[in-house]
Order: sequence, then structure tokens, then C-alpha cells
Amino acid sequence: MPEHPLVIAHRGASGYRPEHTLASYRLAIALGADHVELDLVTTRDGVLVARHEHELSRTTDVAERSRYADRLTTRLVDGHEVTGWFSEDFTLAELKTLGAVERQPELRPRNTRYDRRYDVPTLDEVLALVVDESRRLGRGIGVCLEIKNAMHFASIGLPVEEPLLAALAAHRLPVHVMAFEQGFLRSLRGRTGLPLVQLVGATGRVDLVTGTGLRRVAQYADAVGLEKDLVSPGLVGSAHEAGLEVFVWTLRDEVDSIEDAQELVDAGVDGLITDHPDTTLEALRLH
Ligand code: G3P
Ligand code: CA
Repeated sequence: MPEHPLVIAHRGASGYRPEHTLASYRLAIALGADHVELDLVTTRDGVLVARHEHELSRTTDVAERSRYADRLTTRLVDGHEVTGWFSEDFTLAELKTLGAVERQPELRPRNTRYDRRYDVPTLDEVLALVVDESRRLGRGIGVCLEIKNAMHFASIGLPVEEPLLAALAAHRLPVHVMAFEQGFLRSLRGRTGLPLVQLVGATGRVDLVTGTGLRRVAQYADAVGLEKDLVSPGLVGSAHEAGLEVFVWTLRDEVDSIEDAQELVDAGVDGLITDHPDTTLEALRLH
């Protein structure tokens, strides 16, 4: 284990390559990341794939593909109406016909000039890449797997626990499983001893990071993953007292300085989730 906080490459090296592509993960590892982070959604045939959200139009070229025009639909997801193309309406084979695109073109115009086609990787493909690269480089690279919309997928008969645990059984590597959905983490706790991370956003379930909230979280999780605006030395200390590690998201060069990363280290965090793993490693080296 490194002595510094874990440097966790957010969606790969997503500051430099379209997020959630094998190219993005490969670059993150080459830049020295300790772990890589993936968001996961499911296909119609129950395969977990790396995408930030199950609505596919921001992260793929689906809207430009006439053969899928009739899949445009409006769906109630967790109480909200969403219009678009949904991963749960596509088989893996269909999803593999789509090209991955930069999700934040305004922030990252450089990532929109593709010199090649990037496809949507499965969880299995990313895990295989990480295991191969760990062997090749002689260091144990890990993964942080964020499960998106688990309750929604369960409600439509596509629960994600089985494919998740099956993929992890097939590839041995350090893993954290993360989610915003408390119910999902509680149910997973009953099935696995894998380290679980309760994610908390600055405008989300902040009741989970009070003294009482942290003690409750410690009953089913091993860490909290906090949006960086929430972090203070006091909160990190309270989480540690409750027996929880603290991961922070998301550092990005466009808005954060080296000193911002160093302040989080001084606050005592255990993991830094970053779009630019090279900059974050440099902040640690200079600290
Ligand atoms: O992993 C924590 C962080 O990634 C959660 O937010 O939107 O980037 O998935 P998001
Ligand atoms: Ca995430």
C-alpha cells in the first residue's frame, strides 16, 4: 500500500481521454494512479458496462445513429421523467456498435477531436486490463466501482449484484464498491465482505456525515466518499473515529490547484479521486 492517500483516477484519466474508455484507463495506469474509478450501469442482457449514467446520449453517439431512433423514450427513473436512450434497452452487442464521446465537451474541447473510435467497455474488460497492467508493472492496481441506479435496475428486473460479484470473482484485485444508494449498500453488505463506500454529495444526504450519521454508516460501510466541498479536518476526524476511511471527489485541473489537493491531504483523507492523476501525484510529491 502506498504511504500517501490513494490516488484514484476518476473514470480513468478523464481529463485527457474520453471518460470510461479503455484508453482512459490505460493512460491513468501509465500516469501512476493507484486505483481507477468506474461508474457502472447494466445492459438489457444484464452485462455491467462503464458509463456515468444509463441514459446514453451524453456519453455515446447514440443520438446520431438512425438505427436506434425508435429507442428514444421517456422513462420514470427514481421519481423523475427522463427522455433519452437507456442502457437497459440495449443488448451488449448493440451497445458495442456505439462510439464513446467526451461527456463534458465545453470543459474538455481537446477530448472531442478523436483520432480513433472508442467503444464502451464492459466491467470485465476493464478488470482484465487492470489485472494485466498490474502484472506487467509489478504493482497492485485497484478499482473503485460505483454502481449507478441499482434500485432502478432492480425495479425493472435487472439486479446488478449477481453480475458484479461474478465479475469480481473472475478477476482478483483490490476493490472498493461505492454507491449513493444506501439501500443497495446495505443489501450488498449482507452478501460480501468487500470494502463498501457510502458516497455523499454536498447537496445530498448530508445527514449521513453528522456524528450520528457516520456511526450509522459504519454499520454497513467501510468508508465515506465525500464531495470535496464537504471536507474539513473535523469531519475527516469524526469519520475516522467512527471507523470509516474518507475518499474525496473530484479533483480536476480546470478548477483545483496543487494546494487544494495538499489541503485535502492535510485534512487527513485516505483517497483522492481525480480526473488528472499525474497532477495529483505531483501535489503529493511536492507536499
Ligand atoms: O466516485 C465518486 C464520484 O465519482 C461520484 O460522482 O458523478 O462523478 O459519479 P460522479
Ligand atoms: Ca463515480
